[in-house]
Amino acid sequence: MAVIASKCPDIRVVVADIDPDRIAAWQSGEPPIYEPGLREVVRSAIHRNLFFTTDVAGSVEDADLIFVSVNTPTKTFGEGAGKASDLQYWEATARTILANAKTHKIVVEKSTLPVRTAEAMARILTSKSSAVCFDVLSNPEFLAEGSAIRDLECPDRVLIGGEASERGRRATEVLAGIYARWVPEDRILKTNVWSSELSKLAANAMLAQRISSINALSELCEATEADVAEVACAIGMDRRIGREFLQASVGFGGSCFKKDILNLVYLCEHFGLQAIADYWLQVVRINEHQQERFARNIVSTMFNTVVGKRIAIFGFAFKANTGDTRESPANYVCRRLVEERARVVVTDPQALDNARRDLADLGDAVTFEPDPMRAVEGAHAFAVLTEWDLYRGMDYQAIHDRMEHPAFCFDGRNLLNHAALFDLGFNVYPIGKVPLTHL
Ligand SMILES: NC(=O)c1ccc[n+]([C@@H]2O[C@H](COP(=O)([O-])OP(=O)(O)OC[C@H]3O[C@@H](n4cnc5c(N)ncnc54)[C@H](O)[C@@H]3O)[C@@H](O)[C@H]2O)c1
Repeated sequence: MAVIASKCPDIRVVVADIDPDRIAAWQSGEPPIYEPGLREVVRSAIHRNLFFTTDVAGSVEDADLIFVSVNTPTKTFGEGAGKASDLQYWEATARTILANAKTHKIVVEKSTLPVRTAEAMARILTSKSSAVCFDVLSNPEFLAEGSAIRDLECPDRVLIGGEASERGRRATEVLAGIYARWVPEDRILKTNVWSSELSKLAANAMLAQRISSINALSELCEATEADVAEVACAIGMDRRIGREFLQASVGFGGSCFKKDILNLVYLCEHFGLQAIADYWLQVVRINEHQQERFARNIVSTMFNTVVGKRIAIFGFAFKANTGDTRESPANYVCRRLVEERARVVVTDPQALDNARRDLADLGDAVTFEPDPMRAVEGAHAFAVLTEWDLYRGMDYQAIHDRMEHPAFCFDGRNLLNHAALFDLGFNVYPIGKVPLTHL
């Protein structure tokens, strides 16, 4: 929304959220999340045409267009638990809109939702006999955390799903007209509502599938002494495959990939397509397998025991350039190491507060240290879980000197210069490559 405000100074954008702490942070010009460039965009428009409020009802009344971007987590209870989307926040929003709208509204579904949810939204909005009419559009968000501002300012495509009726077409044109202020027309795709909703789930499933595919190959590389980076380069040079998203790692995380695939799996099962559901579920299973394999490798490499050993975790965010730790592989790896009674110390430049919250139940078994040089003090190993640039340029001679020996490096992102670390005396365990070891 901040990008819409910055690109369209004549449009008044009001962001309404029920969480007063988040709104207070936005209002102060200090976003409650870390995202490169976000602070600057917010500050360029705040109090001019960008406003923040907890008055959801009042902002519904004033608006012509309403973007619904509430959370749609995986359901943890009842029918569909563990797979289906929990739509309670989304439905509450639909009812707030219905209760407070006095004039025509275009409601834009921006949350990622199961296919045919816009139809349900339309049904809720027409459930009360009133003079107010609503048009519901699907406009899924394809931004990636860490590059969100760039993705919003220069999107590969904007997708708008609308009804085929005259009114539906008019509503689509209103929304398309806003994006057309900064997005080339040929990148604004107009589809039917169901195609739009399904495309978002399908895009995330396909992206995650690439990661699970290269990660599956990484295990084969380790068993056969091939190098996964060389394999990724060779296959990525085929234009039909492409280079992007072929970086082997400890696994994907984030709030969307797993949730959206599970949602897709649930949909397939709902329609009796068990073979298709099993196919997509395997993408999630390989991701879990990769995280477990990484944790198990740490234990088995360090002489089958990590009891009492200090292990520094470099990075807790699910990827670089974000403070978001939702579904981060680091969470799983830390828990497994604590289970093995290691002393875990977590360091991260942006995600330490979230890490503290996520691992609060582990008590003293985990400590948190902003300075990586202090995190490695007396450590037997360090493991790279997030590909922060910062970790590339550190003084690994000094790190080696501070650690217990033999010193181990487990590079879950293949981020570091492994040969250089080996020369400094480290025993180095990358993903999908032959380990470099002095033992
Ligand atoms: N995070 C991403 O990178 C990303 C990318 C594309 C799509 N999405 C989708 O966007 C949606 C939101 O994701 P997110 O990561 O921003 O979630 P989030 O949990 O960070 O934010 C959701 C916000 O909605 C607010 N909210 C909940 N119920 C409300 C209500 N009734 N009225 C007003 N506000 C309400 C919450 O307080 C919260 O601040 C999800 O459907 C997600 O799948 C997220």
